[in-house]
Amino acid sequence: MNIKKICCIGAGYVGGPTMTVIAQKCPHIEVTVVDLNAERILAWNDENVENIPIYEPGLSSIVAEARGRNLFFSTDVEKAIDEADIIFISVNTPTKTYGKGKNMAADLKYIELCARQIAKVAKSDKIVVEKSTLPVRTAEAIKSILDHTGNGVQFQILSNPEFLAEGTAVEDLLHPDRILIGGDRTPEGQEAIAALVAVYANWVDRDKILTTNVWSSELSKLTANAFLAQRISSINAMSELCEKTGADVNEVARAIGMDSRIGNKFLKASVGFGGSCFQKDILNLVYIAKSYGLHEVADYWEQVIIMNDHQKRRFSNKIVQTLYNTVADKKIAFLGWAFKKDTNDTRESAAIYVADALINEQAKIAVFDPKVSESKVLSDLNYLQSRSSDENKDAISSLDSAYSACKNAHAVAVLTEWDEFKEYDWTKIYESMQKPAFIFDGRNILDKQILEKIGFVYCGIGVL
Ligand code: UDX
Ligand code: UDX
Repeated sequence: MNIKKICCIGAGYVGGPTMTVIAQKCPHIEVTVVDLNAERILAWNDENVENIPIYEPGLSSIVAEARGRNLFFSTDVEKAIDEADIIFISVNTPTKTYGKGKNMAADLKYIELCARQIAKVAKSDKIVVEKSTLPVRTAEAIKSILDHTGNGVQFQILSNPEFLAEGTAVEDLLHPDRILIGGDRTPEGQEAIAALVAVYANWVDRDKILTTNVWSSELSKLTANAFLAQRISSINAMSELCEKTGADVNEVARAIGMDSRIGNKFLKASVGFGGSCFQKDILNLVYIAKSYGLHEVADYWEQVIIMNDHQKRRFSNKIVQTLYNTVADKKIAFLGWAFKKDTNDTRESAAIYVADALINEQAKIAVFDPKVSESKVLSDLNYLQSRSSDENKDAISSLDSAYSACKNAHAVAVLTEWDEFKEYDWTKIYESMQKPAFIFDGRNILDKQILEKIGFVYCGIGVL
């Protein structure tokens, strides 16, 4: 099968950038990204490409190149499904907030809605690709819906998980470590796999395109995220021990990272990992393991989350303890709100939980993040439902510069590792703050020696 038209359902952090890069690299394929959220589609179509809804370095220029040529954003889901040879499902799969598997299992209601819509609309054979991260054996459910409710057309289901990390999405999409495609072992399944391989082969070496069965592909995605998150919880566990023993976690990370079997990536101690994937995917893994009665496996992976929650709590506790056991009515400046640098995404950001804990202690938080708006900060806090939205408004504000956020503050807390924080005039910041002036570097990005020379009391993660 020769792919001429692609439809992607879900114009989010995964669907938007992925389809943009496919469109750029495959000018002979028409790519339409659809979403139920009309506002989001409007933003993707904004005349000024800097207003697209997702900030990723390098993304807007590729959108400018491909949009209107072979890349389209639309709310007409049915038309796009009808016309496409291949349909990517890239809708969100949040953790369930109700019923069986509450707070653990993935909520598949959007996936099921997509499957039903595809079944209703499709009048010709289609390849349906799971792009969203899903529990193992979801493809089976999608197939069952398509086969039983469809118009008698043939569907092939492929699993093609996305490994891009936010902040480096474009780079990761252009130069992936690997592309993973899972499909049926049947001749039709193999044909569908070959069709998708041919799309990626427009810019990815064939030897980096792995093909597996559907279940291996689905489970590989969860496993990759679990291993990555586990490394962070492992180094964060060591950071606490470092603080007790006088070891320096940055030195420990460097020393172990030089062992080629361990490797030096993903060993940065931090206030805790955030993002839409790690916690959700591990909880999902834990749920699946439990549902098969594999309690030791479930407990093993759950510990990664427990450690991460502990790390976030430990950070806020440390701020309170260091500020003489009270932060009531003290201004604390937050540098960074996004879950990592170079993104405007705040989902599960450690900053939200640290702010919540400090507001419980009646602190006043002043946030500066180069890419996150005040309304986002507030809605993130409101989402926790710890207090009323008016109370949150009173406790937290967002400023348009770090200098104004830090003015008169008792402490600065670095929550996101934005590069620009390293370039600030820290002497000027010091002079504008209450004394003693404290810095809680939740990302270990600032220079302790320089800051101490200026007069700050510096507290990093895993360093004395
Ligand atoms: C999401 C999941 O978080 C991730 O696990 C999965 O791998 C891919 O989907 P992301 O793109 O970051 O990743 O989510 P989000 O930015 O929320 O985008 C999903 C989009 O799907 C939203 O714009 C939403 O409006 C849209 N959507 C959702 C639909 O168009 N139809 C639906 O039925 C449900
Ligand atoms: C992750 C995976 O990396 C990606 O392959 C998958 O497709 C989606 O989930 P993402 O969540 O976008 O990507 O970002 P990532 O770079 O993995 O960072 C996740 C969190 O871990 C961030 O909060 C980050 O700050 C934190 N982190 C990362 C650390 O605390 N220490 C590290 O050494 C690395």
